[in-house]
Amino acid sequence: MDKGSPKAILLKDYVAPAWWIDTVDLSFDLHEGETIVTARLGIRRNHEVPRGPLVLDGQELELLSVAVGSRPLGPDDYACTPDHLTLNDLPDDGAVVEMVTRIHPESNTALEGLYKSSGNYCTQCEAEGFRKITYFQDRPDVMATYRVRVEANRQAYPVLLSNGNLVDQGDAADGRHWALWEDPWPKPCYLFALVAGKLVHIEDRYRTRSGRDVALRIYVEPGNEDKCGHAMESLIKSMRWDEEAYGLEYDLDIFNIVAVGDFNMGAMENKSLNIFNTKYILARPDTATDTDFLGIETVVAHEYFHNWTGNRVTCRDWFQLSLKEGLTVFRDQQFSADMNSAPVKRIQDVTRLRQVQFAEDAGPTAHPVRPESYIEINNFYTPTVYEKGAEVLRMYHTLLGAAGYRRGIDLYFARHDGQAVTTDDFLAAMRDANPDRAVDWDQFRRWYAQAGTPAVSGEGTYDAPSRTYRLTLRQTLAPTPGQPDKRPMLIPVSMGLVGPDGRDLPLKLAGEDEAVTGTRVLALREAEQDFTFTGVAASPVPSLFRGFSAPVKLSFDYTDADLTFLMAHDSDPFNRWEAGQTLAARLLLGLVADRAAGHDMIVPASFVDAIGQTLSRAGEDPAFTALALTLPSENYLGQLMGVIDVDGIHAARELVRGTIGRSHRASLLATYHGNAGQGAFSVSPEAIGRRAVKNAALAYLMAAGDGEGRALALAQYRTATGMTDVIAALALIADSDMPERADALSAFAAKWRQEPLVMDKWFMIQATSARPETLAEVRALLSHPGFNIRNPNKVYALIGAFTGNAVAFHAAGGAGYEFLADRVIELNRLNPQVASRMAKAFARWRNYDAERQAAAKVALERVAHTPDLSRDVYEIVSRSLE
Ligand code: ARG
Ligand code: ZN
Repeated sequence: MDKGSPKAILLKDYVAPAWWIDTVDLSFDLHEGETIVTARLGIRRNHEVPRGPLVLDGQELELLSVAVGSRPLGPDDYACTPDHLTLNDLPDDGAVVEMVTRIHPESNTALEGLYKSSGNYCTQCEAEGFRKITYFQDRPDVMATYRVRVEANRQAYPVLLSNGNLVDQGDAADGRHWALWEDPWPKPCYLFALVAGKLVHIEDRYRTRSGRDVALRIYVEPGNEDKCGHAMESLIKSMRWDEEAYGLEYDLDIFNIVAVGDFNMGAMENKSLNIFNTKYILARPDTATDTDFLGIETVVAHEYFHNWTGNRVTCRDWFQLSLKEGLTVFRDQQFSADMNSAPVKRIQDVTRLRQVQFAEDAGPTAHPVRPESYIEINNFYTPTVYEKGAEVLRMYHTLLGAAGYRRGIDLYFARHDGQAVTTDDFLAAMRDANPDRAVDWDQFRRWYAQAGTPAVSGEGTYDAPSRTYRLTLRQTLAPTPGQPDKRPMLIPVSMGLVGPDGRDLPLKLAGEDEAVTGTRVLALREAEQDFTFTGVAASPVPSLFRGFSAPVKLSFDYTDADLTFLMAHDSDPFNRWEAGQTLAARLLLGLVADRAAGHDMIVPASFVDAIGQTLSRAGEDPAFTALALTLPSENYLGQLMGVIDVDGIHAARELVRGTIGRSHRASLLATYHGNAGQGAFSVSPEAIGRRAVKNAALAYLMAAGDGEGRALALAQYRTATGMTDVIAALALIADSDMPERADALSAFAAKWRQEPLVMDKWFMIQATSARPETLAEVRALLSHPGFNIRNPNKVYALIGAFTGNAVAFHAAGGAGYEFLADRVIELNRLNPQVASRMAKAFARWRNYDAERQAAAKVALERVAHTPDLSRDVYEIVSRSLE
């Protein structure tokens, strides 16, 4: 940064605005080369705070005129700086402030504010993009009703959209036309949206429970109409589910979605005009994988659910971001669990949480779910705010039960509809709706305030003569940046005791009269706590944190035999999977240690047998089996080591995969063939599960270098019609040294070069290969005609995927770090949000060996010394170097 270091914004400095803005009247005159924006703001003094000037935010705006009422202001009547427009002496009883500004959407590469994507105009205002459109109090506690007029050339921009209802439209001079939109619901400016472009749409209808007829439209670029069906179905399912599960209905007669190819994030919940990354709308069986289909279902639901959790009730300030995001992620997780397999969904969500959120919580950018300070708010759309935030919601649900949780939700809306509130307000609603529940809410609140992942350890002792089982649990929370001392958390431990016959024993704590059968929830509140169960007939194996009831790291003194037992018998499917993962991680880290000590790595037969057992049950639940067959990722294993042994982890994991592939060749082939050829294509959970287990089997055969496996992969690549199977086979081929590799990759690119989302997969599988040539190939792909560094999806597919490639990105010598520094510096000028997301890949550099640390530090410092460093990148890089 040139003008000194950027300043941090603090939660404790929050003050309500001196003025409210109740009405916003906007007029957009879209022309090639410039857009003229006229804004009329109906303002009113906020008498609850001392009198002050009206300070409006603005960035990269050219101010053409200002007036108050009908009185034009001269330059002496206001102060205009690069970031603010300040008006003094406004009338106490309110006024209309009118401003005209000029902006240049066509040269906006940051994709924030008003910008162009494939020639169409669109907006992204969250968090602070509205200030790039007009001067405004760009903060979520200022809520107004909007009236928006959009005018543009009719031929080039036949579709003109904004929030709310279309109230009028007409023709203008010079081949232009206009549309007038009105949104009756007061909203913060981050929910404003505008779209103007050459788009086509598909349409459906939904009738709400109380009889409102809603027109549903999805707008896409011409040629993509046939890829919108799944998104539309997902929208209708979401609308119905929210009525049934939360009693929440849609509140307007129209709901529009627009899909654009250039978008920084996944999607945006603008009131009645959601704008999506095409990745989360477009899908056809031949272009999209099962993961894509499921992602669409979840993200469409997520944005729809925001209509209540985010829009009707919004955030007072950006420190409260998890108020809407944690809650809405939890809601979309519940929805997807209901639409598909709940255990499979939970395993996938926890895998992701561990992989990305636990990593964040353990590094220099760790922050609480409700942060206390930020330099650039866009840096806080994080796994902690979203995914850990969702875990906090899940813990309310676990502690209060479904009915108590719902009472809290109902009270939250009864109290706060139409308001901008805080996570404390949410907690108060949950508390007040459940006065009979003995929850220590002040202790629970620490989940919002303390960063870091609690570590829980423990052991159990069974006393046969007294038939008691004593479970001891301990918790610790390591210091995180700015938080040296932590206090114990209130940790819900959903658990059971599994008897020798594999069944859950009745659970009765000392002093209780009646036993609970199955699962119960213990509250771990102290640094160390004993739970004594009485009347325990035989020595049990405890099953702890069923369903992953709290976002903690558990280390319990299980024997390998205990884990194998839980894998086979735990009544909780999540913990059956978890036991297998714990066993696998233990074994893999043991091999890594052997290798580091110069010993041979020997894969124990017992583990290979356990995998064989899992495989033999593939027919019962293919989707679950596919997950149970998947070893912990290299990145996750790295988190479990003090100093990450990059090559050791890779070598151990590959050895185990190859051993499994050789040892179970026959059953892997049987699993493959037994789940291939399923008739008509479907994305039912069953069909997805069969494809998943089939491709997991194929991956093991390939890991063993099996000739028949290779032939199957090639055949699958050449003949499969669904993208899931095509890409699964191609990824395996691309990660191999098969002679057909180059031809397969180039044939795929030739076939799909017109489909950017499909090409993203092609970039991604090359960037994630563990082959030593990967970095060189990624470099070469930067100049492939299908790549474009201005398109975020391309950056995430090639550069982002490469940074997630544990062996290649962290290869000894530091070439991966150097490569990333170059890309971050390049992106910093074009798109700070994307640059900063890429820079986060450096965050855990101190967990590697001295040589890698040295190389990473050089790269990070080079980024830090870049002239004109954006606030976004500055914040990440400076925290990483602290
Ligand atoms: N609210 C959006 C969602 O959760 C994310 C928008 C994030 N945008 C950003 N520039 N940080 O779907
Ligand atoms: Zn969201």
